Amino acid sequence: MKKYNVFDCSIIELDRHHSDRKGNLTVVENGVTLPFDVKRVYYLYDVPGGENRGSHAHKELEQLIIAASGSFTVTLNDGKCKRSFFLNRPYQGLYVKPGLWRDLDDFSSGAVCMVLASEVYKADDYIREYEVFLKYRNA
Ligand code: TYD
Repeated sequence: MKKYNVFDCSIIELDRHHSDRKGNLTVVENGVTLPFDVKRVYYLYDVPGGENRGSHAHKELEQLIIAASGSFTVTLNDGKCKRSFFLNRPYQGLYVKPGLWRDLDDFSSGAVCMVLASEVYKADDYIREYEVFLKYRNA
């Protein structure tokens, strides 16, 4: 499998339907919006100030990470380079390729981190130890 680096990941601008008086609506549709089909959605919320999440890599999973509310920072790491993305718009998503370590921190009060994922949950797709991740990258 190709090893992606942090520069293969980017912010995707999502479709935004704006109504002056009634607010906004954003759509994500399989086959239209993303380079993968969504099989699972999960979200992080009530993250206490100063806490961090993530600290793992996925071997095959692709994800779109969206700040559905509030803000937080996602730092991607390919073993050589790190790249941080500040997410604070519900109409923007960070497209994360497989094989990258990610750390999420700097959660604002009330932040909701919504993740659209290309696969169902598989515990063996995770790499949770940084040393193992570095070996995986260098293999
Ligand atoms: P984890 O992926 O470690 O959260 P984070 O890295 O964002 O801090 O998941 C936390 C717990 O939730 C862990 O026990 C596994 C469980 N979980 C599921 O059961 N299904 C899922 O789809 C996800 C993402 C997590």
